[in-house]
This record gives sequence, C-alpha cells and structure tokens, in this order.
Amino acid sequence: MLEYTPDTITDAVLQQMEQTPDARLKQIMAAAVRHLHDFAREVRLTPSEWLFGVQFLTKVGQMCSPDRQEFILLSDTLGLSTLVNLMHDTTATEAATHTSLLGPFFRENAPALAYGEQIARNDPGDEIVLWGRVTDVEGRPLRNAQVAIWQTSSEGAYDLQIDPSKPNFRGVFHTDDAGRYLARTVRPLGYFIPLDGPVADMIRAQHRHGKRPAHIHFLIGATGYRELVTALYLAGDEHLEDDVVFGASADLVVQERKDDPDCPIPGARSIHFDFTLSRASEADKLTGRVGADPSQILAPA
Ligand code: BEZ
Ligand code: FE
Repeated sequence: MLEYTPDTITDAVLQQMEQTPDARLKQIMAAAVRHLHDFAREVRLTPSEWLFGVQFLTKVGQMCSPDRQEFILLSDTLGLSTLVNLMHDTTATEAATHTSLLGPFFRENAPALAYGEQIARNDPGDEIVLWGRVTDVEGRPLRNAQVAIWQTSSEGAYDLQIDPSKPNFRGVFHTDDAGRYLARTVRPLGYFIPLDGPVADMIRAQHRHGKRPAHIHFLIGATGYRELVTALYLAGDEHLEDDVVFGASADLVVQERKDDPDCPIPGARSIHFDFTLSRASEADKLTGRVGADPSQILAPA
C-alpha cells in the first residue's frame, strides 16, 4: 500500500492519468498537475488559503451570466489571454496585423451596417470616422471581408453594461471591392474593468488601478484567411503602458486626425488603419479564438 508524501504525490497522480487516450488532453492535464503541485509546494499552501482559492473561483463562476464572463476577465487580468494570443500570432503562416484581446463584451449578433454607417446611437460624444483597408500581407485587397467593430460609449461603458437588451456601439461591416471599410462612431473612453465582481476584489487587493486605455475592437474575417481579433488604442491615453489586461501594444496605437486629406469624409476627425490578414492554414480550423460571446459560453452544448 502506497504512502504519499509531498514529494511523491505528483507522480502518483500522473501515473493514474497515464492511460488518457487523447494525447493532447494527457499532455495538458499532466502539465497542469505538475505546475499546480509545484505552485502549492513553492508557497507551502495552507488549507485555509486553499479554501480561499476555492471560494474565489466559486464566486467567479457565480458571476457569469449570458452578459458577463468573469472567467475571461480573470484570464485577461492575469495576462493569460494575452500570452495565448501572442503564442497564437507566432503560428500564423504570414506576418499580419497582431492580435489583441477580444474581451468579455463581444456579441455575435451585432447589427449589420452599410459602408459608412454610424455605430453609436444617442451618444453626444465627438464623432470620429474609422477608415482603411483590409488586405493580404502583399497588400492585395480582401473584398467582402467581414469587419465587426465594437467599443464603449463616449463615457466609457459598453452596451452590455448600460442595457444588454439594446445593442449599441457595435456593428458589422463589409469591405468594398478595393478592400476598404468605413465606419462612423464616437470617440470611446478608457474605463475600469467591471468593479462589482471577485476579479475586481483581486485587483483592489493588489493595488492595481483596474483601467483599460480607450480602444476600439475589431474582428475581421475573410474566406481563406486567419480570423483577426484585434483592437486599436487611442494615442495619448494615460494607460497605454499599464493596461490592466495587457492588451495595448505599440503597433496598435492610432492617432486621431482632423482634416486628413485622404479620409473619405472630408473634414472629419478620423482614424486610419490598414489591417493585414495571414492566409489560413489547416491548423487554423482547430485553434479557435481567445474569448467568445458570453451568452454562447453558457449555452448548452
Ligand atoms: C475590453 O476590451 O473591453 C476588456 C478586455 C478585457 C477585460 C475587460 C474588458
Ligand atoms: Fe474593450
């Protein structure tokens, strides 16, 4: 009969999982057990600390609803989402626009809008125009690419936080024959991540500010190309360097301009960004994306 010690328990667990038929599941679970046990040994985890962790994860789960994904928020604030995105970018067949966080406020069924339509309703903020092209890495236009855009109001709140039954500040566009997209919006504001849940308790306990810099999300898809989940960050925001979820990165910072002579709407305040997509590989069919519409995560399988 075995007698476990802090040094032998890990191998005993790995041994019991040895017969897992799915090789990838086996690899992931073995690594998870090894790292989890090493973590507990390193900090000499006590029973009450272990229970605190269980209670914390329970609260994270209880906070989840069709409009809220607290586990993704936890992953984001621990830098795990960005780590997975960064590794994902390194596996693209071509060097394209980099990924940034999808975040917990993406919604699948945003309204379809025509070229140049406004995504914000009933918001007194400053109008800005978003324009540019979607191309392959050689600059060839991708026509009819789907460009989903979502952001906060000019006061820094997502529609899901204001009234989940009234979609706002989001829309789905398609590129024209030259790969161009054009959307009107209002200038978004940086904001605090949701402060009413266990993740915010963690952020406060760590004396972190809990803010994201102002940004605009994009999800771009074109047949035969790797889906691009990214965001543009507004130059000048005070939290570009210390985004609480590690999404802002230098290559995605954009400058708003007034009177850009190339802007399709003369005289408008505008942001120009050209996106490039990598050709999809066979493997891309299996890799998925970091994040989802919260309601779809809760939907029965
Ligand atoms: C966001 O981009 O909206 C977001 C991302 C991660 C956590 C919270 C919000
Ligand atoms: Fe966001």
